[in-house]
Amino acid sequence: MIEARGLSKRYGDVVAVDDVSFSIGNGEVVGFLGPNGAGKTTTMPMLAGFLPPSDGTAELAGHDIFDAALEARRAVGYLPEALPLYPEMTVDAYLRYVARIKDVPRGTRSEAVARAAERCGLNRVRRRVIGTLSKGFRQRVGLAQAIVHDPAVLILDEPTVGLDPLQIREIRGLIAELAAPEQGDVQHAVVLSTHILAEVEAICRRVILIHEGRKVVDAPIEDLTAGGQTLDEVFARETTRDTTVEGAA
Ligand SMILES: Nc1ncnc2c1ncn2[C@@H]1O[C@H](COP(=O)(O)OP(=O)(O)OP(=O)(O)O)[C@@H](O)[C@H]1O
Ligand SMILES: [Mg+2]
Repeated sequence: MIEARGLSKRYGDVVAVDDVSFSIGNGEVVGFLGPNGAGKTTTMPMLAGFLPPSDGTAELAGHDIFDAALEARRAVGYLPEALPLYPEMTVDAYLRYVARIKDVPRGTRSEAVARAAERCGLNRVRRRVIGTLSKGFRQRVGLAQAIVHDPAVLILDEPTVGLDPLQIREIRGLIAELAAPEQGDVQHAVVLSTHILAEVEAICRRVILIHEGRKVVDAPIEDLTAGGQTLDEVFARETTRDTTVEGAA
């Protein structure tokens, strides 16, 4: 599971993320929403242990990002907004490299790479050099590297951006399946950011909405739309509210 406890990030005078807390259980896919500049892309690497928070902490599958940094990093698959891919490497070599740094045992690395490639629709391009791939295929490589070590938690920043409609469907299916497999397999906790509200409705049961760095909504979609409102309307209402007056009185 994923626990965020009072996460904050300041850049000089800019408060990008302000005291954000939430908890995401195994089997859950939570949509992380907010307008441009709300703080989504700042929150995700803090959750994943890649960007030190100014305040607060996070726990991944029971491992604190400070006190158990190594275990926390092993437990997480992270798809950043801007992928740090190695353009001169082949897809296979890159995925093997990621599997190695994520401590997948040597004996099962090939299998792990093959499974991630298969799941992300990469079989046709495994021997290609990453730099020559189209944008959508590079995004698939990004997803494959996030899941190659079968992490307990997945943190995905706009996972379907740039993908074709067929692949979007497949990736949404994959995310849902990873979170709550039909039989046997381990459940995962997934948080994903997106601007596509239809995507949220398709695969998430719960949304967390942030606005100006603060969490303003954390609720099941069912509850948010129970009064006949659409998710668009909820989003619009919660993100046009002026938060600057809060606490000023
Ligand atoms: N390195 C940085 N230095 C200064 N300010 C930053 C830095 N990174 C982010 N910010 C600021 O933090 C705020 C949150 O940015 P962030 O990228 O997290 O938003 P976002 O919700 O991901 O937006 P988008 O939907 O556009 O991707 C913005 O005001 C941004 O300008
Ligand atoms: Mg962003």
